[in-house]
Amino acid sequence: MRQPQDIVLLLKAAGEITRLRLLALLTQGELSVKDFTEILGQSQPRISRHLKLLADAGIVTRHAEGAWAYYRLNRDRASGALAQWVIEHVDPDAAELRRDREKLASLREVQRERAAAYFATIAQSWDRLRSLHVSDAAVEAAIVEATGAAKSGFLLDLGTGTGRMLELLANRYQHGIGLDSSREMLAVARAKLDAAGIDHAQVRLGDIADLGDYRGAADLVVLHQVLHYFDDPGTGVAFAGACLRPSGRMLIVDFAPHDLEFLRTEQAHRRLGMSNEQMALWAQASDLAVVSCRSFPPTREDGLTVCLWVLEPNKNQNEKGV
Ligand SMILES: C[S@@+](CC[C@H](N)C(=O)[O-])C[C@H]1O[C@@H](n2cnc3c(N)ncnc32)[C@H](O)[C@@H]1O
Repeated sequence: MRQPQDIVLLLKAAGEITRLRLLALLTQGELSVKDFTEILGQSQPRISRHLKLLADAGIVTRHAEGAWAYYRLNRDRASGALAQWVIEHVDPDAAELRRDREKLASLREVQRERAAAYFATIAQSWDRLRSLHVSDAAVEAAIVEATGAAKSGFLLDLGTGTGRMLELLANRYQHGIGLDSSREMLAVARAKLDAAGIDHAQVRLGDIADLGDYRGAADLVVLHQVLHYFDDPGTGVAFAGACLRPSGRMLIVDFAPHDLEFLRTEQAHRRLGMSNEQMALWAQASDLAVVSCRSFPPTREDGLTVCLWVLEPNKNQNEKGV
């Protein structure tokens, strides 16, 4: 139980219109201070002051990443639960909140278009670009090993790009689908699969935010160098997790936290890597568990550490047969 003065502090933190708007926006996922300033049209120091009050009261948590800071609702504590209650009881169609949501949606659309334009220009050279930062051979050997002893029935490779995972794992699944939102990347993937004679995998144009057709269908889901293009990688994990069968497995390969800020501007990255702690939180929020993680230090000076996380549905989910 909390002391009365703590509850007053908590209520004061949530009890202000700008902070209420920030909380309402955070129900859509993790957001950066930059996102908030663009949506609310208020200065960065002002927004930061509001966010600090919310963080001090334990309503939100802060995660610093390079020059940016990200915030999310703290769902673990009573203060987070109280914020959730407040938000659930505010009319979502109130003009201000609706406008904020619309601005967030158009901000994300602009960011998606920028990323799509970037992938359209690099599609032909992606396979060479990919290996600039990582030691492919060691990571790929570990990915094959992480698929487990038995061959998977259905593999879903999300953000398949040029289809490298479909090719690498060709002997590890019976039927594969590679999904990507870039036509240009998929054109390269199609040609690659044809050339390799892989006819048990197809590629499809689509968005990871819209995976309804694959719900509960996949034995193996792969997200290889994709999550750092998400503003909130946790939502990517959630979308992917919903595609898993109860006995399924998810392989996530991405960068460990780094500080190469230029990757945001030059290569459309949204996040500068991700930590084991973040991955565990995102997994937990999607009823998944991280069953193993391995990291691969760079083999060259300008390289980045790459991590391979293996996630599986929580045991109790298996027992429920969900
Ligand atoms: C860096 S490439 C990685 C491609 C491939 N997985 C690999 O490692 O070679 C990231 C790919 O994710 C795709 N992508 C990013 N966000 C996506 C989304 N929301 N839905 C579908 N594809 C997405 C991009 O179009 C791009 O082809």
